[in-house]
Amino acid sequence: MAGGGEEYDAGPYVPQGAGLEALREAAAGCRGCPLYREAGGTVFGSGTASARVVLVGEQPGDQEDRRGEPFVGPAGGVLMRAVDEAGIDPTETYVTNAVKHFKFQPAPGGKRRIHKTPSLREISACKPWLREELRVIGPEVVVALGASAGKALLGSSFRVGQQRGVALPLPPLDGAEEAGEGVLVATIHPSAVLRAGDADRAAMYAGLVADLRVAGRLLR
Ligand code: URA
Repeated sequence: MAGGGEEYDAGPYVPQGAGLEALREAAAGCRGCPLYREAGGTVFGSGTASARVVLVGEQPGDQEDRRGEPFVGPAGGVLMRAVDEAGIDPTETYVTNAVKHFKFQPAPGGKRRIHKTPSLREISACKPWLREELRVIGPEVVVALGASAGKALLGSSFRVGQQRGVALPLPPLDGAEEAGEGVLVATIHPSAVLRAGDADRAAMYAGLVADLRVAGRLLR
């Protein structure tokens, strides 16, 4: 159990060799880091085990936490529109997050919950779930949406501005030294489009679609 000075690690909660449904059930009881204490519940990935593309976000947002599904709020709307425009069949995708619990702080005096970026320690603790999702699905392409997903998949030195929109080798997530078999494309997080000012929003969205097109072309 995580807390105090203990190590954060989802590993002990992850059944080995399990399918997606068994993983989802086990993840509901994850206590690998302290985020489970305040969040509504674990938000596991969603989509088919035969997905050709896995889209990895940061962590569930407020709506995802309430509904128990990833990318069902405003960022998910932007993402799915961009996926479709990029020529990727949404039925061939699986969506998940680097961190499976919502990290937030209460808005002063109100009921709203304000997103807080997960720490590297929390991202790293949650990696065993992502590793198992990728093992079961074996996608042709993994898309890292933003910095937290990129750090989970490529390491803490990942910088989205420098590494987006190109096919990168996906290293194994278990720390093994040998090269992985997968391919990764990084792009911005769809929330960045929502946060952008009026002057920048269209260009940010076009950049997201362009990066997703790179991922889509790798499927042919
Ligand atoms: N942002 C994410 O990174 N993931 C979600 O599921 C929703 C918003």
